[in-house]
Amino acid sequence: MTDVNALNREFLKYDQVRKSHTYRLAEGEQDEFDEDYRIATLDFEPFLRGDAGDTARFAEAFNGALEEIGFAVLTNQGVDPALYDEMQDATLSLFTSTPLDEKMRFRAERFGSVNQGYFPIEETSDIHPDLVEGWVWCRRAFDVPHRRAAEFRAQDYWPDARYERQFRKLVLAHEELFKPIAQAMLMGLGVDPHIYDEKLTGTNFGLRLNYYPPMSEAQDRSGAGRLLGHEDVDLFTILPATHADGLQVWNHRSGKWVRMQAPPGSIIINTGDYMQRISNDRLPSTTHRVGKPSDGSHLIDPRVSFPTNVYLWEDEVLEVLPGLGTPRYEPIEAITFHTRSTSKFYGDEYAVESV
Ligand SMILES: [Fe+2]
Repeated sequence: MTDVNALNREFLKYDQVRKSHTYRLAEGEQDEFDEDYRIATLDFEPFLRGDAGDTARFAEAFNGALEEIGFAVLTNQGVDPALYDEMQDATLSLFTSTPLDEKMRFRAERFGSVNQGYFPIEETSDIHPDLVEGWVWCRRAFDVPHRRAAEFRAQDYWPDARYERQFRKLVLAHEELFKPIAQAMLMGLGVDPHIYDEKLTGTNFGLRLNYYPPMSEAQDRSGAGRLLGHEDVDLFTILPATHADGLQVWNHRSGKWVRMQAPPGSIIINTGDYMQRISNDRLPSTTHRVGKPSDGSHLIDPRVSFPTNVYLWEDEVLEVLPGLGTPRYEPIEAITFHTRSTSKFYGDEYAVESV
């Protein structure tokens, strides 16, 4: 079933953390926007290279933004902006120069927790006809240190090995940030900042490339959005600022949508379901979606984005962190949590209990 008018409430039974609000998956006439709200933009350098006072101040400000809306923008995160420009070009090249039958050889399938591979346009989920093509690669699809037994072979995952080499650069740059970002979140919560260091060493992740082609007039009239409203099912997501806007974030305090604006070269961080679960609801897994850009360029220009979702391996247990009050949730194996939640998008048979 795909429905341009669907509401999140129709799929509540899948959620593995509390989500009490109601929203349309696609932007609609009745949606209200909070045009004055500004998501916090924070300089990450004092946390990465500062003294104890600098790290504590950053952690407090970061936590404040995340508790308030679940999103923050980080600048000076130490990644060369030229890498993001290369990613933009390589993503456009991958989607526009790979024939559809070649893309379909890599069609997405569940492996462990994550649906990995190519998602054709209108098939990112079963519940809304998103006007996006996507492609997801997890750790095993990169020639990086991995706990796998099998030898890495680029042709198992990539239409051309040069894409693996290009996208690996982003993976390696962002992997450097996994622990510092988690440490800042944990410090802001008043929890031992190193409690997840081991779990995040060589952890699993998903690099998702999104290619939103220019919309036809018929698609524009259909009411379908570019990417449905959803919450990420991860610890957190690292999204480099996009060239074209359109990302909308749900403000749970005002019940209105906020248009994301992030400076070039910055990264947008948002917390996901894993983090809401282990933080005992302190850090919300915030709803977001992609609508039409504010300048109306969706009829002419494509949009590209390349978020990295930070996961735990399937056999890890998600347990409320110590010191955050009476746990509202039972401990749960990551694969159970992850696949139950994402069976909302992929059908009930997607959910599995263990590895
Ligand atoms: Fe997302």
